[in-house]
Amino acid sequence: MAIPIELDHSSPQSLQGQIFEQLRHLILKGKLKPGTVIPASRVLAEQLGISRNTVLLVYDRLIAEGYLQARKAIGTYVNLELPETCLAATRRAAISTPTHGEVIDRPLIPFVSQPQMGTNSRHLDFDFCPDRIGLDLFPHKIWRRFLNRALTSSRTYFTECCNPGGLSQLREVVADHIGVARGISVSADQIIITAGSQEGLNLAARLLVKDGTLVATENPCYHGAAFLFQSYYAKLIQIPVDEAGLDVDQLPKEGVALLYVTPSHQYPLGFTLPIERRLKLLDWARRCGAYIIEDDYDSDFRYRGSPLTALMGLDDYGCVMYLGTFSKSMGAGLRLGYLVVPKTLVSSARSAKALLNNGHAWLDQATMAEFIRSGAYGNHLRRMRNIYCKRRDCLVESLREHFGPVQLSGLESGLHLAWHVPDNYPDAPELQALALRHGVGVYPIGPGTAYDFGKCDYSERTLVLGYSSLNEYQIRAGIRRLAIAVENRLAEADFSDEVASSPVPLPCN
Ligand SMILES: Cc1ncc(COP(=O)(O)O)c(C=O)c1O
Repeated sequence: MAIPIELDHSSPQSLQGQIFEQLRHLILKGKLKPGTVIPASRVLAEQLGISRNTVLLVYDRLIAEGYLQARKAIGTYVNLELPETCLAATRRAAISTPTHGEVIDRPLIPFVSQPQMGTNSRHLDFDFCPDRIGLDLFPHKIWRRFLNRALTSSRTYFTECCNPGGLSQLREVVADHIGVARGISVSADQIIITAGSQEGLNLAARLLVKDGTLVATENPCYHGAAFLFQSYYAKLIQIPVDEAGLDVDQLPKEGVALLYVTPSHQYPLGFTLPIERRLKLLDWARRCGAYIIEDDYDSDFRYRGSPLTALMGLDDYGCVMYLGTFSKSMGAGLRLGYLVVPKTLVSSARSAKALLNNGHAWLDQATMAEFIRSGAYGNHLRRMRNIYCKRRDCLVESLREHFGPVQLSGLESGLHLAWHVPDNYPDAPELQALALRHGVGVYPIGPGTAYDFGKCDYSERTLVLGYSSLNEYQIRAGIRRLAIAVENRLAEADFSDEVASSPVPLPCN
């Protein structure tokens, strides 16, 4: 019996691997039935024009995995013990893909996710993406030095799980950093090292949110937070945002268990919550018995005046959880951040982290700890602040040069700003589509940037523009291209208006 096997000598897969896969496939699909004797290794080798040794090795592997059996008098044959019912099910599954709506006999997946931005999925000439930073700005050389140092000095960490809350060296330097930079006075114990602030959010939600829990968020709100709370089946309440950030007076008087807020640089609009509102907010949380998650995602970058003390730094009631991240200062690919919890939540938060993944990978933690301790992080931040401040100024100038006296928000800090486009321009989603056709990425409020619950004053006419991943030349060129696209679009509209309003020519006879 000749077995239908085809070999591709140019394939990166070995001949042995190809024969193994094809024989296994023939058995599982029932083309070689249990009990079928397969050709002797010499015969198959001749049929395929390869060495007998190769075939022997394949047979050995198929025997070891239970597909084949060998007996002296009979030869090598397909295992009689292979359960025919399972093989039949495999065959059925291969020919019948379930049709839409068909009931499948397995538990339903309870959460169906919302569309998220396909990070790095598009190639654009000039991408004003708000959550990316330039690769050229990562401190490769010095990071490599600290990485090597961590590798040689802490070998035992490879074989041991460290504290689920994180490496103590990193927690200590983070406590010092936020003490000075954000006015937050906490012990290292209160800090849990996480895979970016997204994991911190997840931990906080795991502690405080279950099906039906009332969670208040800003409107519009960071999509990563809104989707996360939805995945826990929270009931979301949207609180409007004005030029001073979250409108605290609109918070419900009771019933809310958790509020998610971005007081330093409201995401995505960039407003800063003034001190009166911060104090009011803390008082509300005390009266309501609610916790607050303060997402301080980009406050390392403040360009004007000194930073306002973080909400957690003002909190005397133990109701604020603080989210910090290195995604903006170092890069989102590092996946390093931290959650700071009030003393009463330390042990639960640490247990939740242990259940999730037993703690964060130590090598990056050790490198980051040394990077901060040595003062290199402070230097890096100062350098970045300088560069980003120039990029922001360049973006503002370019917008003014091409679009006149533009209305902007969120200039004081962070790595993006919001442009509130005038009424005579196409709306933000149309501007995005227009820009995209010209190789430029700009972002309206919507999936991929922020969650807009509707009825928000800024929904249709705000574009979010990040300036951290483009240099000044690219910023100027990108805005120039956007301006040309808009100009052409407005000219087209004028032209069609003219056509529409011009008198209909009389038919000539
Ligand atoms: C509001 C907000 N929070 C947090 C983050 C950072 O998330 P992560 O630390 O998980 O990378 C971002 C990133 O863009 C953000 O916009």
